[in-house]
Amino acid sequence: MKQENKINVLLGLQWGDEGKGKIIDYLTKNYDIIARFQGGPNAGHTIEFEGKKYILHLIPSGIFHPDKINLMGNGMVICPIAFQKEVEELAQDIPLEELKKRIVISNRANLIMPTHRLLDCINEKSKGDKKIGTTGKGIGPAYSDHTSRIGLVVGDIDNNDFAIKSSALNKKHLEILKDHDVDMDALTKENYQFLTAAKFMQEFEFVNGPYWIDKQLNTGKKILAEGAQGTFLDIDHGNYPFVTSSNTTIGGVCTGLGVSAHRIGKVYGLFKAYCTRVGAGPFPTELGGEESDEWCATKKVEDENTQYPDPDINSSDPFIQGIALRRKGSEFGATTGRLRRTGWLDLPALKYACMINGVTDLIISKADVLSGLKTVRIYETHIEGDEYANEQAVMGNQKPNHPVFRIFGGWENNLRKKKRYIDLPLNLTKYLEYIQRETERPIVLISTGPDRSEMIFH
Ligand code: GDP
Ligand code: IMO
Ligand code: MG
Repeated sequence: MKQENKINVLLGLQWGDEGKGKIIDYLTKNYDIIARFQGGPNAGHTIEFEGKKYILHLIPSGIFHPDKINLMGNGMVICPIAFQKEVEELAQDIPLEELKKRIVISNRANLIMPTHRLLDCINEKSKGDKKIGTTGKGIGPAYSDHTSRIGLVVGDIDNNDFAIKSSALNKKHLEILKDHDVDMDALTKENYQFLTAAKFMQEFEFVNGPYWIDKQLNTGKKILAEGAQGTFLDIDHGNYPFVTSSNTTIGGVCTGLGVSAHRIGKVYGLFKAYCTRVGAGPFPTELGGEESDEWCATKKVEDENTQYPDPDINSSDPFIQGIALRRKGSEFGATTGRLRRTGWLDLPALKYACMINGVTDLIISKADVLSGLKTVRIYETHIEGDEYANEQAVMGNQKPNHPVFRIFGGWENNLRKKKRYIDLPLNLTKYLEYIQRETERPIVLISTGPDRSEMIFH
């Protein structure tokens, strides 16, 4: 087989929100095409440059670069209403005609309907205190319709019977919803909006994804696939059932874009210097444990600010330290505004993510957030001396006990100004070298702040 041009990939190695938006935007200069392959408006990818801050949900994070194409792949679930809103917001800064040149959509990508959102909410309600804490964007129900082979795809919009088809599926959903309180007036309005927004989508180019990508690769175009969510939210390899409904890991690239495994080149694995999780589910290294879990599930940012106006990042109470870390790292959901649970770096989880994804290069974000801490921890194992139990704990099948962690000295507070690896504080380089040694992967980029410019090569 001739040497083929390959797709590089960037994946989140934790529970999402690792800073994928920032890193993709930073790397876009080296590519021609950025391709999202899974997920939908549950994602919230933040990008900051020139004093402006954007949060993308559906549109790939290469959108701010002229002459680059952003593909929304077949593995995605697209809400036309959310798409239109996102485009219109971006159009305040980038002309609509230009956005139309920069975005192409796979005709096999799945559509999220207003009733998918209703079903998502009802499913969550019916789970009571076992709820997943979804983003409420209709992700699970839309993917369920896909696997049930009844869903609508982008290409359907071009067919004359689109309104009839969507009305039939709407009816099916209403059957399931019949015992629930549905605001029919609001739904009728949203269904109308759905059709209008689907028409709006037609102003963008629909492509046959796999053929389109094949042609781009064969003409030497450089492609970077952008992951959404993170490894532990993967439907198959995450902390099931506290996961999203797509393959967020490497396999999702093949199915979600229609490229063969042979065509995957570098796999960049992105992780935060600590961990966060938003929504329910196992989180072995959580600061404050169950108290934090409960607090984040029930409280709002305002409650936390009122009750803990000045939390100490060096507090001996892990719950308070977790709050301080959340405040310092602005760990509030980019899509939902929820409090993100915070915890120490989880090495067994990181190693698992490297294994599942075949990570070739690591990228670390937010080490600047840990600055000012007197000591920093990394969890080395969750259940000492029992490899099988430790693996079970990583997957979320078993509660961790007898964890072992390593303590590192802290580093000072001015990381964001640093531009070279050799200028980094010694304790931080010790931290980074330890991670490289343990994961047997190089850390090639170190993000030291939210802005595009805050980045160090290694
Ligand atoms: P994504 O979902 O992986 O794209 O991440 P989010 O955008 O949801 O969350 C990451 C947050 O951290 C955003 O507010 C980013 O602006 C911010 N961020 C990204 N990298 C860094 C970094 O290195 N340091 C700091 N302090 N913030 C960062
Ligand atoms: P980005 O791309 C963090 C979480 C939700 C919930 C679970 C299922 O910004 O990293 P869903 O709505 O997908 O059915 O919710 O997954 N979740 C995320 N957490 N970052 C995300 O995306 C997420 N997308 C979904 O909180 O626990
Ligand atoms: Mg996010």
